[in-house]
Amino acid sequence: MNAALTGRTALVTGGTSGIGLAVVRRFAAEGAHVVVTGRRQAPLDAVAGELGDAVTTVRADVSDPAGVTTLFEAVAARGTGLDAVHANAGPGEFKPLAEVSAADVDTTFGTNVRGTTLTVQGALPFLNPGAAIVVTGSTAGSGRERNFGLYGASKAAVATLTRTWAAELAPRGVRVNTVVPGPTQTPGLTGLAPGHEDALLEQIAAGVPLGRVLRAEEVAAAVLFLVSDESSAMTGSEVVVDGSVSVA
Ligand SMILES: NC(=O)c1ccc[n+]([C@@H]2O[C@H](COP(=O)([O-])OP(=O)(O)OC[C@H]3O[C@@H](n4cnc5c(N)ncnc54)[C@H](OP(=O)(O)O)[C@@H]3O)[C@@H](O)[C@H]2O)c1
Repeated sequence: MNAALTGRTALVTGGTSGIGLAVVRRFAAEGAHVVVTGRRQAPLDAVAGELGDAVTTVRADVSDPAGVTTLFEAVAARGTGLDAVHANAGPGEFKPLAEVSAADVDTTFGTNVRGTTLTVQGALPFLNPGAAIVVTGSTAGSGRERNFGLYGASKAAVATLTRTWAAELAPRGVRVNTVVPGPTQTPGLTGLAPGHEDALLEQIAAGVPLGRVLRAEEVAAAVLFLVSDESSAMTGSEVVVDGSVSVA
């Protein structure tokens, strides 16, 4: 039996760590060739060393239009178009309103909103018939997580953008969905509390009805579903992978 993505080409932004890395590994295991971006060269080299010919690594900052140009030059050079896009890069940090600076607003929205928009826009000329796009949202987009408002607002924005893009791209047969992870054990999550990683994970797990933080592979399974033919009727949807934290 064929793997789900045999012969397909995928793009994953922020694919060198955490959820994005789990998606890159899963897509490659399912037969895809994966174009992977991140800003730092060493993690890109590690992915290339692990997955070899299954990946093309491109050092690019998706919040920077020049970086996005570099990224899609690499996609063009490969010459196979794109069947799947996971616009995943989207950092955040805990900060109460009183401490938020203008630069924080620009940084968070620069990657999460501008970067996601430029990534999906840049992919448009390369999308093969039947292509599927997944954007990474967050349960923080609900606005219920204290000190996470800026990040949450940026994630609410990308969820809204995704619904709009789904309508715009439906006539092309291109699907666009959001995966909405809850707390997932990644360097991005533990990096929110440097030096207090275990305490943070314990505290977060206590608030998750499933009783634990999630694994990046569990989010990657949902992303695979959303780019595969198994979700062919889904567009403009949000798939929540959160151990029920949203309704806790
Ligand atoms: N972990 C969670 O609990 C959780 C929950 C909900 C949603 N999410 C979302 O899931 C996504 C992945 O989070 P994660 O926890 O897996 O993060 P992570 O472990 O910190 O990984 C982030 C990845 O994005 C890359 N990256 C960051 N900024 C970038 C930029 N401007 N351009 C290109 N690449 C960039 C990083 O590489 P470089 O640093 O080298 O650029 C890295 O590969 C994010 O959108 C996040 O908001 C995470």
